[in-house]
Formats: sequence, C-alpha cells, structure tokens
Amino acid sequence: MRKKVSFVGAGNVGATAALRLAELDLADIVLVGGVHEGMSAGKALDMAEAAPLEKHHSRISGYTNDFDEVAGSDIVVISAGVARRPGMSRDDLLTTNRDVVRGLVERIVPIAGDAVFIIVTNPLDAMCHVVLETSGFPRTRVLGMAGVLDSARFATFIAQELNVSVENVSAFVLGGHGDTMVPLPRYTCVAGIPVTQLIPSQRLEEIIERTRNGGSEIVNLLKVGSAYYAPACAVKEMCEAILKDKKKILPCSAYLQGEYGVDGLFVGVPVKLGSKGMEEIIEVDLLPQEREAFLRSAQAVRSLVEAMRRLNGKDSLKSQATGQDNRQARQAKRRGSTPRPGVPLTRE
Ligand SMILES: NC(=O)c1ccc[n+]([C@@H]2O[C@H](COP(=O)([O-])OP(=O)(O)OC[C@H]3O[C@@H](n4cnc5c(N)ncnc54)[C@H](O)[C@@H]3O)[C@@H](O)[C@H]2O)c1
Repeated sequence: MRKKVSFVGAGNVGATAALRLAELDLADIVLVGGVHEGMSAGKALDMAEAAPLEKHHSRISGYTNDFDEVAGSDIVVISAGVARRPGMSRDDLLTTNRDVVRGLVERIVPIAGDAVFIIVTNPLDAMCHVVLETSGFPRTRVLGMAGVLDSARFATFIAQELNVSVENVSAFVLGGHGDTMVPLPRYTCVAGIPVTQLIPSQRLEEIIERTRNGGSEIVNLLKVGSAYYAPACAVKEMCEAILKDKKKILPCSAYLQGEYGVDGLFVGVPVKLGSKGMEEIIEVDLLPQEREAFLRSAQAVRSLVEAMRRLNGKDSLKSQATGQDNRQARQAKRRGSTPRPGVPLTRE
C-alpha cells in the first residue's frame, strides 16, 4: 500500500521538506493548513507539476481547512506556527504556537491515530509536550526534530574548518533545542578520528558556540523568517528513516522516562528510528562535565514546560485532566479494552 506523509502548516520548512520527500518517491504527500486560503493547494499543485521533471511518482495534494486527506497518514509533520523574527527568542513563541499546535493535533488524532508525529514548531521541546499530552499517543510516536539539524550545523562548521568532505564528519549533539544544546566533541568524528585530535580545543569551543547560535545567525541574516533549507532536510532524513524502517540512529527530541537521569521531559538524545517511530533510546556514557551540561539543558526545557503549564492556568489544568480521560478512552478504544484509571499512558 502507498505510504502517506502529511505536512501540517506547510510554510517554509514544511513545504520544502514535502518537496524533498516527494522527490524520494517514498510516499504520497498531503499539505494542509495555512492562514491563507489556497496556499497549501497552490504549493501542492506547483510541486506536482515538477514531478514529470524530477521523475517521481509521489501524489501531492494540498488543502487549507479540509483535514480529511490527512486520514491514515503514516507520518504527520507539524510545522505550523509563527517563525522567529530578529530579537525574538524561541521561548517568545511559546503561547502562540502552543495554541496553534494543540488545535491542529486535536483535529488530526481522530483521523490519523496510528501516525508518527514529527514536531518542528518552536519552542521545539515544549511543543513536543503539547503534542504528547494532546494526542495521548505513546512516546514512541511523538518525536521532535532538532538534533539532526543541530548536528548538521556542527558537521558543516567542522568540515569547513578542516576543508574536508561533509560526508567525513559524524557530529554528535545532545540536549534541548536552544542555546543550552550540548554538542559533544568526544563523540564527534572525522573519518573515524575524534575531532578533538584535529581541531585545537579553543577553536572547537568557538565552533560549538557558533553551532549553539546557528539558528540566530540565520535569523539575523534573513531579517524575515528563520532557517528552512537545512531544517527541511533534517525532517526529510527522519521521515526517510521511518518510511524505510531503517533502524537509523538519529538525534531526536524524545520523551525521557529515566534515561540519562531525566524523567518526564522531552530532550534531545540519540534515537533508533524505524517504521513505528522511536524503537530505542541509545544511552552513552557522559563525563561529569558533559552530564552537567546535559542536565542544565534539560533544566532549561523543564523551566519552559513549567512556564507553559503556568500560562495554561486553571482552564488548561482542567482540560489536561479531561484530556487524560479522553486519551484513556481513545487508547482503550484502539486497544479494544476499558480505560484503566491511574495508569500513566505516556509510559507505553
Ligand atoms: N525544530 C527546528 O529545528 C526548527 C527549525 C526551523 C524552524 N522551526 C520552527 O518551525 C515553525 C515553522 O517555521 P517556518 O519557517 O516554516 O515558518 P512559516 O511561517 O514559513 O510557516 C508556518 C506555517 O504555519 C501556518 N500556520 C500558522 N498558523 C496556523 C494555524 N493556526 N493553522 C494552520 N496553519 C497555520 C502558516 O500559514 C505558515 O504556512 C516555526 O515555529 C519555527 O520556529 C523549527
């Protein structure tokens, strides 16, 4: 059967990722959402008309408000929301994008209950929480895209520094998607050689700092909008790993339940991706200073999630409680069983 990937909020990142994925000939593509009527349909038609030239067979369609075509998707990519402008932090996006993402997930879950969700919208790790809580999906099917992009940026700067092929660089980044991300030189190699043997530590620190600020560097250059070519490629990479059941290890924002000493939080870690989404979280040994940096990054995510919960206020606490009931009912329906009160469903 043909696979289907839906891109919800097909703006710069979503539409570019959709086109790149379509060219791989792996799945039919649905673009949905957008604040301007006809935008998704127009982009989809434009992409479809490129198919004879690119010689792929992916069917591409687009809709603004008609979500029916999302039904039965294998993957749903969520990149709807507002992008950063100069001087705006990812956290400034918190409340606006929370409401956008929550509303969209509520519409999609009833018709695409078996999909793997890939979240792109910022602030990334916090939006993953919104999707996990709103969908009631197991953690294996809610993943955030950030680490693939952050490692690609780290790899780009290392390749440029050493004047070697980007294919030689295998970069390793942990932690939340933000200024506290933790690029790990000890696990970063160039043709199998630890990068620490090739670049002096002070210069490596500068490269790490540039990686941490990789998003802002582009925002400041563009003036309007934020990066989307590399983010779109990162989304495509994750989709491809899932569609081909590659068992590929990629850094993703995943819901930790004790791994790396963190519980109940989305943080970037190496994840094995297969057809069902996250198949395994790979834990690596960390030196005390690396662990400290990782936990600091996790704490930044926790503060953001707590801020979001505070902003949610009483209404949201109420809806979270109701959401829990709804989630249990939905999951029980899928399992054909009765909801079990008190069982933390996200621990599946
Ligand atoms: N995780 C990452 O590494 C990463 C990288 C790049 C961008 N981002 C984030 O991804 C998001 C999208 O970035 P972009 O550059 O594609 O932005 P964009 O403005 O080009 O696209 C956003 C799209 O969302 C749509 N949208 C807004 N509100 C909507 C709603 N209520 N319902 C349906 N659609 C709606 C808009 O019409 C637009 O098409 C931003 O939050 C950005 O910060 C994350």
